[in-house]
Order: sequence, then C-alpha cells, then structure tokens
Amino acid sequence: MIISTEKSTQNLTYPYLPPSNSSTTSPNQSLLPLTAKTNDRDRLEVGGCDVTELLQQFGSPLYILDEVTLRTACGQYRDAFKHYYPGSSQVIYASKAWSCLAVCAVIAQEGLGFDVVSGGELYTTLEAGVSPEKIYFHGNNKSREELQFAVDKDCAIIVDNWLELQILAEITDPAKPTRILLRLTPGIECHTHEYIRTGHIDSKFGFDPNQLPEVFKFVAQQPGLNGIGLHAHIGSQIFERQPHQDLGGVLVDWMAKALDAGLPISELNIGGGLGIRYTEADDPPSIEEWVKTAAESVAKACDDRGLAYPKLISEPGRSLIGSACITAYTVGGRKTIPDIRTYITVDGGMSDNPRPITYQSVYRAVVGNRMSAKPSEIVTVAGKHCESGDIVLKDAHLPLTEPGDTLIILATGAYNYSMASNYNRIGRPAAVLVKDGDATIIINRETYADLLRQDRLPQRLKP
Ligand code: LLP
Repeated sequence: MIISTEKSTQNLTYPYLPPSNSSTTSPNQSLLPLTAKTNDRDRLEVGGCDVTELLQQFGSPLYILDEVTLRTACGQYRDAFKHYYPGSSQVIYASKAWSCLAVCAVIAQEGLGFDVVSGGELYTTLEAGVSPEKIYFHGNNKSREELQFAVDKDCAIIVDNWLELQILAEITDPAKPTRILLRLTPGIECHTHEYIRTGHIDSKFGFDPNQLPEVFKFVAQQPGLNGIGLHAHIGSQIFERQPHQDLGGVLVDWMAKALDAGLPISELNIGGGLGIRYTEADDPPSIEEWVKTAAESVAKACDDRGLAYPKLISEPGRSLIGSACITAYTVGGRKTIPDIRTYITVDGGMSDNPRPITYQSVYRAVVGNRMSAKPSEIVTVAGKHCESGDIVLKDAHLPLTEPGDTLIILATGAYNYSMASNYNRIGRPAAVLVKDGDATIIINRETYADLLRQDRLPQRLKP
C-alpha cells in the first residue's frame, strides 16, 4: 500500500513563531531551526544571521545549516540512550542524509559514530577525521573494492547478503578479524512512503529470516570474520512508535539464536527512521520518546530471556539533521492562469531538493524578508527546471510575494543536498554553517567550470 505524503499546506500558523523554549524542544518536532527568530527588520534570523543578508553575501539559493540545532539533536539522542538503556550505547549518524566534511566533523565532535553506504561516504568520514572504529559500512551491493577499503581501514561492516559474506571470507585476515553485523529483514511493516520502507519481508535489503540459521553457521566457521552483531532498519520518516517497540523483541530473539550458533554477538543495531515535522500537520514523537521506546523494548526483551544487554546502536539520519537546515531562494516571476492557479517561481528546485518530485513530499515555506506578513493567496511555488513536475510546493498559503523576496523552505537538512543533482546543468547551491552571528561556507557553490570538470572533448571534435 502506498501511503501518500501529500498534505494540506493551508491552516498554518501565522505569524510564524520560532520554538518557544529551544533548550527543551526536540529538534525533529520543530519546523524551524532552534535558533530561529524574527529580527527587528521583520526578517528571519538563524544562528544569529539574517537570512536575506546571507543571500546577498553568499548568493542564492543557499542551504543554511544551524550548528546549535544539529548539536542539540546529537546531544538529545546521546543523553536519552544513556538515560533509558541500562547497557552501553552508540548513536551513529546515517550520513546518507547529508555527507560532507563539516557535517561529519560537527557530529564526530558530539561523540557520534557514522553509518556509511558507499566508498564515497566512507572516504568523506575518514577525511573528516572520524575514527574507523566508529564507522559502520552498509549497502546491499558493496563492490569488492569498497569492501577491501573498509577492511583495510578496520571499519565494522554491516553484511547484507551471501555474496558479500563470501567476498569478505576471502579478503579478511584471520590474524585481524573484521567486525561484522548481519542485516536482517525483520518483517515489520510501518506507515511511510513505499520507497522508504525497508523492514517488510519483500525488501532488497538484508538476509531473509529463513537464511539466517545457515548464515550464522557460515560466519561462525570463518576465522577472518568476527560476527559481533545484528542489524535491522524498518524505514524512514516514521511517526509510530510501535514498529520500534516490536523490533526489540525480534532482534533479541535472533541474537539468542546467533549466540546459540556460536557467534560472539555483543551489538544490536536498531537502524534509524524517526520522522520529523515538515509541516504543522506532522506530529512525530520526540527524540527522547523514540529512544525510550526502542531502548526499553530491547532491555525488556533481554530481561525476559535472561540475556546480557548488548551494546545498543541506533543510526538516525533525518531526525539529526533535517530540522537544522533551511533552503533560502529568491522569488522570480509569477504566472496567473485565471480560475486555475497562480505560479510563483524560485531560483532552484528539483536539483537542490528532489524530494517533492520523488516522494510528493510537502514542505513549509515562509517569506523570510516579511515574516509577519499575513498569508493572502494560494500559490504554487515552481522551480526553474525544464520539467512540469518541478514544483517546490503546491498550493502554498503565502503572503503576496514580489520578485526579489526571500522564500524559505524549512527542514531541508536531510536528503536534500545529498540527493541534489546538476539537472539542466544548474550548479548545486552553496551551504553555510551558522552559529552566533557567524556564517562559514562549508560547501562552495558550483561554478560553470565545475560543471565541466569531468567533461572531456576528444581531439577530433574540437572546433
Ligand atoms: N539506516 C539505514 C540502514 C537506512 O537505510 C537509513 C535510511 C537510515 C539508517 C536512516 O534513516 P532516517 O533516520 O534518516 O530515517 N531519501 C529518502 C530517505 C531514504 C532513507 C534511506 N535509508 C527521503 O528523502 O525521504
């Protein structure tokens, strides 16, 4: 069943207010970054920086990442696991949400580890100075080269399938066994978009439960493989707590069987998946509530079976970084089709945020240079790409905008930059990290020359 993510963007709260008590707010429940406020020029400020001024300084469009919100989310995860789980724990950031040097460095400073899913993500985290001991390498079709890279660096590998196990058995060194976790499909359904559900049985990820007894036997016999853990991930942008409550029992049952088969299991990885608020209609549990559910369920399942508490790993992506970033655009022209629709355009779109066209995702927009202006029309915000489906936000309830206004889309930290493209040869926007009134470039805006960097013109085609 496909659950539509389409929501109404009407009946929103105006004037738009930042979170009232930012120190206790769970970032994933806040539409705006925690430091957001409206300044005395009636403009949105994030991290002490006026967003409209940032566009003048760094160009448009611009990703603006609030360091305080990102660090707060890391801290809330870390503290909640310490509080609710009686054993040891490690939160690892699913870096597919946004992988770049500065993001990895901030998160590493907060003590988190990293989930990487490709040689490129692994390289990025290593270059950011992350210790390999805290890196877990995922993926359902890792190449031999990627596996070799992770083995050489001494990362933990989350093994997805038989082929990978066989390659690892060949390339690992019995004198220095590689830590592996086995990924399984837990058979748990959840309500999210079909494309981002992974825990149900018909999934390309992980071992099917009926393969596991044989897998355990195989791993136990490989001197180069140290089968330290099991992993499952149910899906993404999940608001229910039940799936993660159920997951504890499923994983602990399999842990008991793996221990019986002789594997030295000491880690359980429950994946990520906690949703965030993209519009007022979204109501995700807080980070603390989610951690409490997941941690207590694993602890109880261990108590019920008389097993020692494994190290509990979780790998959130979206709920760590999603609400920490906004994308600021500049408004262009408008087109009114009488009795049908009014379009306004912005200077970006599906190349900097492919989520609306891919998943019909709905965001919240604010006019950043007139924060208290009342919404007075329903318009569709279109991107600048040559594609009718390049709609940033359909039927948005907005104040009247003019060319040059700052249109801000909220909660764009997760799966925006990381899924961005150069469609129509549009360079990816710059990203700045903001804190205490300071804005630092963390990703340069792509230039025309950048777009040609990998192009080669054969001699015989040269003019
Ligand atoms: N662990 C595994 C194994 C995953 O596959 C994912 C996400 C995560 C952790 C992190 O999940 P999160 O906490 O971010 O929900 N591009 C889609 C989301 C794809 C998620 C893929 N896996 C989107 O834009 O909504």
